[in-house]
Amino acid sequence: MTLLLATAFLALGVGAVESAPVSLRLAAAKHKMRIGTAVPVGALDDSPFTKLVATHFNVVEPENEMKIYGLTKGYREFDFTNADKIVAFAQKNKLEVRGHTLFWHLYPSQWLVQGNYNSSQLTEIAKHHVDTVLGHFKGKVREWDVLNEAFGNKGELVDSIWFNNPGIEASGNKYAYIEKMYRWAHEADPKARLYYNDFMCEMVNTKSDAMYAMAQDFIARKVPLHGIGFQCHFDMQFNQEVPLRSFQENLRRFKKIGMDIQITELDVRIPNNSSEMLQKQADLYHKVMKIAVAEGVSLVQLWGCTDKYSWVPRTFKDQGWALPWDDRYQPKPAVQAILDALK
Ligand code: G3I
Repeated sequence: MTLLLATAFLALGVGAVESAPVSLRLAAAKHKMRIGTAVPVGALDDSPFTKLVATHFNVVEPENEMKIYGLTKGYREFDFTNADKIVAFAQKNKLEVRGHTLFWHLYPSQWLVQGNYNSSQLTEIAKHHVDTVLGHFKGKVREWDVLNEAFGNKGELVDSIWFNNPGIEASGNKYAYIEKMYRWAHEADPKARLYYNDFMCEMVNTKSDAMYAMAQDFIARKVPLHGIGFQCHFDMQFNQEVPLRSFQENLRRFKKIGMDIQITELDVRIPNNSSEMLQKQADLYHKVMKIAVAEGVSLVQLWGCTDKYSWVPRTFKDQGWALPWDDRYQPKPAVQAILDALK
């Protein structure tokens, strides 16, 4: 423990304060909250990265390695090498693994697109995928995003290979294809906790209303959906009273109907890394963590910990610096702000 705390002090870049719970995970544990980070397999060779993760977090989620394109090379051709490396790292360091994601309409594998499969073939592929992947990781992955980003901003189900192009065989209610995925996943690993994960649904809005309606329907019909992952890729626009209040209200309503609520991909992108901007960023991290504590969020997971591997600069022009540690592993004010919120 002394060694762990000493490492944490170093990683935080602060002077030693005796027995203060300086690692994020120790601070979060006081609130029965777990704290996680996305991990890209390439970062496992980077020892400052692995030290930071092993010190501050107790959950890791492969950033891309458990997506269909990360796990398959062709029809019935799986390659678990990269995902297994992350699981082995987690096990070595006694961290839990969150699986992401069995299904997502974006970034489909070429073999899947080019196969021109009909509905019945696609159904067989989807079920086989669930059985194979959950079978492989049984007992090693505690929770899964079964489906990612199935709703559009108007609350509609987005077009996808799984839903309607051509879609897996399904009939009945409008969430039928989603229901199938969750039932298969539960059958394949009855102990796994199953989540629906999405973005731009953090506030009460048309999209989160649609997700809420689906959750209510699944609860009523005993479809095994256990929780909701709110991604929380924020920018500074979110640091205002109205969105923050709506975020809190939204988490509360899902929790009230029995959904486990998780923040799954938190980052806060900013337009520069001036000290003023880093303080503003820290303030938003602080507020989000305070809300998470108040509403009983069971896991807060960052979409990475260091800017070195962040997806943000690759995606948003002129924005970046989104994570609590910079690209040289120096803690930003956000680290202390998160700890303060967890006091
Ligand atoms: O691995 C190749 C590399 O060989 C190649 O040289 C390079 C050239 O572009 O691409 C590399 O692959 C990239 C991969 O990330 C690994 O870095 C892909 O192009 C790129 O599309 C992929 O992006 C990921 C994206 O999901 C799509 O899968 C991001 O890293 C990842 O952060 C992002 O994560 C998503 C969540 O899954 C769902 N929620 C939103 C979140 C952010 O978009």
